[in-house]
Amino acid sequence: MRYVVIGNPIAHSKSPQIHAAFAAQFGLADFSYERLLAPLDGFAATARALFDAGAGGANVTVPFKEEAFRFAAGLSDRAAAAGAVNTLIRHDDGRIEGDNTDGAGLVADLLRHGELAGKRVLLLGAGGAARGVLLPLLESKPAYMVIANRTAEKAKMVLDNVLESWKVDRARVPSEYFALGFNDLVDGVPVGVEGRDLKADELSFDVVINATSASLAGEALPIPASVFAPGALAYDMMYGRDETPFLAQARAAGVLARVDGLGMLVGQAAEAFALWTGRRPDVEPVLVQLRNAL
Ligand code: ATR
Repeated sequence: MRYVVIGNPIAHSKSPQIHAAFAAQFGLADFSYERLLAPLDGFAATARALFDAGAGGANVTVPFKEEAFRFAAGLSDRAAAAGAVNTLIRHDDGRIEGDNTDGAGLVADLLRHGELAGKRVLLLGAGGAARGVLLPLLESKPAYMVIANRTAEKAKMVLDNVLESWKVDRARVPSEYFALGFNDLVDGVPVGVEGRDLKADELSFDVVINATSASLAGEALPIPASVFAPGALAYDMMYGRDETPFLAQARAAGVLARVDGLGMLVGQAAEAFALWTGRRPDVEPVLVQLRNAL
């Protein structure tokens, strides 16, 4: 069966290497996975032609995840909450379903490094990357979660949008959640938010996740070191051969557990592979292989 990753640009995508390694784990000889460059104004036509030619599914990456969301005939809850699709699945009746495995990939990678249930979680950023992981993070039952952004309004908007798209039972998300601006994250100062005030000692966190694109610009974030509780895990959704600016910032704040987003990349791929093939690959050896090749 043929699978692809669609994007623009796409030449540097590591997904073919990852999926080839997964397929090899199960000896799937008829599993093929390639890069597919779509014109910037031609995602839907490219995807339509691909599925007409019998492809089993596709991963979708920048800048087409929102278009893939509109292209899909049906959506999983987590894709609806994310407002974006990174995985398309062709069902036997020809229907194309859209899913989003980014959040599951992040959660799986976080769980490789510690617990989420009962932990205080801070999600930094309110763009597409943050929105994409919000529902799976909340479903992992943190004690509470704060989403913080340069502008609190945008963080609030993202939370509201995601909540709106949850046509699902509210009981599925038992944790409290709050939207703040970076400038609210001051050590020792309580903040008023919708619902109830956050006490000053609630502004340090066990898990701090960077979902901003600040690292792309080589910039650190305007957040105080006090957001990292003793023993905190700092997680950057970005990755690279060199330490990211956010992880350098965490190191300077004394954080020992620092993880970049390479494991999330492999995790989201594993989840897509499982949706397509019904088999759950072992991410560990693939992650080691990718890390060595960075
Ligand atoms: P993505 O799809 O990668 O999330 P995006 O939708 O453009 O990209 O969102 C980028 C996120 O990174 C936003 O939360 C943005 O903050 P603003 O809403 O205040 O713009 C954040 N961001 C980008 N550059 C940043 C910087 N230098 N410092 C802090 N936050 C930054």
